[in-house]
Amino acid sequence: MDAGAGSPTLRAGHVTLREMALDDVDDMTVACQDAEIARWTTVPSPYEREHALAFVERRTGTPVDTERMRWGIEVEGRWCGNISLRPDEAGLAEIGFLVAPWARRQGVGSLAAWLVCDWGFRDGDLDVITWHAVVGNDPSRRLVERVGFRVMPGVARLRMAHRGKRVDVWMADLLPDDLVPMRTLLP
Ligand SMILES: CC(C)(COP(=O)(O)OP(=O)(O)OC[C@H]1O[C@@H](n2cnc3c(N)ncnc32)[C@H](O)[C@@H]1OP(=O)(O)O)[C@@H](O)C(=O)NCCC(=O)NCCS
Repeated sequence: MDAGAGSPTLRAGHVTLREMALDDVDDMTVACQDAEIARWTTVPSPYEREHALAFVERRTGTPVDTERMRWGIEVEGRWCGNISLRPDEAGLAEIGFLVAPWARRQGVGSLAAWLVCDWGFRDGDLDVITWHAVVGNDPSRRLVERVGFRVMPGVARLRMAHRGKRVDVWMADLLPDDLVPMRTLLP
């Protein structure tokens, strides 16, 4: 997977994935005030405009931010989420995503995940895509199950450091043949 090549624009149904832009910063700042995002992701909390700006400009300086493929999610011309593939080793990448509160429960996250997985298998040389979430994040789990990921039974105990403490996580993986037909996700 070549993270240096920029993120190609991908489209399905009402969802477009594209490079993030400075115009997204205000919406990103508003979205990231959401309690669910603070609860389930590692975005900074409290979340300031400067965090969004640094993220869009890839200024945070961590290897994760320079190495992963990332897209802004757009619906009807407005930014409404982020999604990424972070390579862990040759042929394997982990998916991560968030959808703004105003765009949830409309199939946006599922279609976005389908698009990046399809791209990862076709053009990103991936053999397997993985997901993990803090135990209890049912919306995220439903989303990946909808796309075809297989959630492993049980929990990985204390697998992740999350906001200052170790937490149990759910884990799942997706192989190319698991990916559901895109039409099944269209609203
Ligand atoms: C998880 C998240 C990305 C889902 O995005 P979304 O665009 O609402 O997802 P979709 O509309 O594609 O829905 C996918 C599935 O999740 C279900 N779902 C979505 N929100 C839900 C909720 N609050 N409670 C229960 N199920 C929910 C949908 O019903 C759908 O399942 P279905 O096929 O059984 O109907 C969004 O809730 C979010 O950004 N949460 C906070 C950040 C986060 O948790 N990121 C992931 C970290 S691992």
